[in-house]
Amino acid sequence: MNSKITMKQKDEFATMQIPPYLINEHYDDRYFDVVNAIEEAKQVFFEGCGLMGTLSAMGPESKIFSIGETGFGAGRMLIALLDYLDNSAVTEAAITYNSVELHPITSGRMAAILEGFRPAVGPLIDLLVGAYSQLDISRHGWNQLQLRRPFGILTLNLWIGEALEMVHALTSPCDAWFLDGHGPKKNPAMWRPELLMEIGNKTGSGGTCATYTVAGEVRRGLAAAGFLVEQCPGFGGKKAVLKGIKRQLHS
Ligand SMILES: C[S@@+](CC[C@H](N)C(=O)[O-])C[C@H]1O[C@@H](n2cnc3c(N)ncnc32)[C@H](O)[C@@H]1O
Repeated sequence: MNSKITMKQKDEFATMQIPPYLINEHYDDRYFDVVNAIEEAKQVFFEGCGLMGTLSAMGPESKIFSIGETGFGAGRMLIALLDYLDNSAVTEAAITYNSVELHPITSGRMAAILEGFRPAVGPLIDLLVGAYSQLDISRHGWNQLQLRRPFGILTLNLWIGEALEMVHALTSPCDAWFLDGHGPKKNPAMWRPELLMEIGNKTGSGGTCATYTVAGEVRRGLAAAGFLVEQCPGFGGKKAVLKGIKRQLHS
């Protein structure tokens, strides 16, 4: 499938009336920036983090893998991940998905935001929205849900609160980080050096990160946090995106 969007589609998206529920009113920004945000998640975040290569290299036995995400939003990244893994040869995986949300939305709004992806991933939307509706998102701290899928089990640990609190609260490092917290101009707090530094501390050697922004402060912050960062070709009208790999620590 050719997943690149055309310039015509991009122009249509830029000029179309954005439904108010797609805008995060706290940051005056969309939850996702491109028309095909499910495909964007796969190309920018999952491939940027080398997910399939790492999982495949683990062999047929139990694959234990931990992901961190900054900015849960409407759960589009998680839906895309479920779809990606459901359509892979991966089995016997135990995926821990640690995410955080400072301004949690209702399950009804989540469903409305995800509705545009229904033709591609309708059953997964129903699954996630149904499970999310059982969480008490008014409560600060960890919330947990588990999803059984053909690839194994995914455990979502969703911290309701601020990103740095969540990263501090992690008791073990993540293998991959999806940095998806609105752009640094709209939301500098999600890219502040102390947060990126703590993300670096909570990443195992050889662990990875990916994001859609190539802003200088993000590149510098990730480099200072111990990642070797590299710009890669972008997606959905973005010229370039960023991926990083945690440097080995030498004693
Ligand atoms: C671009 S949206 C995330 C989209 C989401 N990953 C998805 O796929 O649906 C960024 C999210 O980060 C949340 N956020 C912004 N600043 C935050 C902070 N300091 N701590 C925790 N969450 C934050 C926003 O409320 C928003 O839902």
